[in-house]
Amino acid sequence: MNEEALFGNELLHRPRRELAPGATWVPGWLEAHQQRWLVDRFHEWASGPVPLRSARVGGHRMSVKTVCLGWHWRPYAYTRDAVDVNGNRVLEVPDWMVRLGRMAVSEATGDPAAGAAYTPDTALVNYYDDAAHMGMHQDRDERSRAPVVSLSIGDTCRFRFGNTEHRNRPYEDIELASGDLFVFGGAARLAYHGVTQVLPGTAPAGCGLGSGRINITLRETGLSG
Ligand code: SIN
Ligand code: MN
Repeated sequence: MNEEALFGNELLHRPRRELAPGATWVPGWLEAHQQRWLVDRFHEWASGPVPLRSARVGGHRMSVKTVCLGWHWRPYAYTRDAVDVNGNRVLEVPDWMVRLGRMAVSEATGDPAAGAAYTPDTALVNYYDDAAHMGMHQDRDERSRAPVVSLSIGDTCRFRFGNTEHRNRPYEDIELASGDLFVFGGAARLAYHGVTQVLPGTAPAGCGLGSGRINITLRETGLSG
């Protein structure tokens, strides 16, 4: 590994930042070896009981492909079985992922008690190819209003983070890069957000993904059963 990779100064230009009360961006939170390990897990999940699929929303299919853990998400419901794919039950949320979510909430909020209280029971794992995007939406299929933890790996994307009222301005565009953490909870929990663009060819060497972007969101559904 060269000195630039070990002690680069790119984080000087991408400091952590609160975009709105409850919404915190922590660039470069995951180290390269953690990103590579998560990419390996992604390949396992994608070849698990439920394959990656593009969810159908209204009359069209999303450009993003998704595989879920814990609970299977489809618009606008969570079920244990992937009823709109092959009917199989999704994989469990592993213990390490709950720990990862707790560390993320603790890091973003600066409140270890908030981290300890967080127990994500679902992970939505999205794969974006060069052309994929995600329209402005709220994450509101969960009964719990615990924070959403978002982890990005691979190509950088333009992420749009808006207000809680509607999908229009005011919003802010930021670039989520490989390893970045974004947490939105509290007053920002129901903010509209989306991915306007993936920037092909921007995945850093060593992240484990040659092209495209993986986004993992951890959530508490507030559901039981
Ligand atoms: C999502 O809104 O569920 C995913 C956001 C992202 O891909 O960064
Ligand atoms: Mn979302």
